[in-house]
Amino acid sequence: MQSATQSVDAAITSRHSIRAYLPTPVPRETVEAILDVAARAPSGSNTQPWLIHALAGAELERFCDIVQGAFLAGVQEKREYQSYSDLVVEPYLSRRREVGWGLYARLGIGKGDRERTREQHARNFRFFDAPVGMICTIDRRLAVGSWLDLGMFLQNVATAARGRGLDTCFQAAFAGFPITVRRTLGLPDEQAIVCGIALGHADPNAVENGLETKRVPAREFASFRGFAT
Ligand SMILES: Cc1cc2nc3c(=O)[nH]c(=O)nc-3n(C[C@H](O)[C@H](O)[C@H](O)COP(=O)(O)O)c2cc1C
Repeated sequence: MQSATQSVDAAITSRHSIRAYLPTPVPRETVEAILDVAARAPSGSNTQPWLIHALAGAELERFCDIVQGAFLAGVQEKREYQSYSDLVVEPYLSRRREVGWGLYARLGIGKGDRERTREQHARNFRFFDAPVGMICTIDRRLAVGSWLDLGMFLQNVATAARGRGLDTCFQAAFAGFPITVRRTLGLPDEQAIVCGIALGHADPNAVENGLETKRVPAREFASFRGFAT
């Protein structure tokens, strides 16, 4: 029997971004249970700013056809928000490059192979074939603090999914097509498109799912003052 610490730590540390899924369906009850657990996240004054649009089956297909179609047709939309600063400084630039090149190397996509890079990027817009795709939105009239709340909620989604043997991938790629996403889901302009979330069972044979990302240990990013030891 695992202790609570072991199982919480295992749910957190066993999460990796999964970019290839088995077709095994995930029932609505499971998705709803994950979201109910995730909604226990703290939020400033309990504002609970998260909104989720969950898709499966024919609705998912239709959505992916439209958004992937826009990407492949070269449609240009103003991104909902900037994922990366224009000022790319170290150590963040190197970390970003390492994960990007690591993923493409596993897939046998060489640096400069634009066509295959584009094909791989296009898989984002099918949620990497996950049986469930979710779009997370937030009311844009809220302040930046509410986006922090959203981050806590989203991490809970991933952890609750792991607790049920399921995998996820967060996808800011969808924030590049806010107009198409809003129109396809029938959402009002106030809804800012934050990210997509792929949810399902990892394909154990897919090479991209073997990508291991590193972390800097706490002693390098944290300072400790006043402790006895
Ligand atoms: C907000 C956010 C947006 C992301 N967007 C994408 C995305 O659009 N496509 C993708 O393949 N991965 C995306 N990722 C996954 C990151 O690349 C991944 O979390 C990071 O490289 C660390 O790897 P790990 O999740 O396997 O630990 C995103 C992650 C976060 C938190």
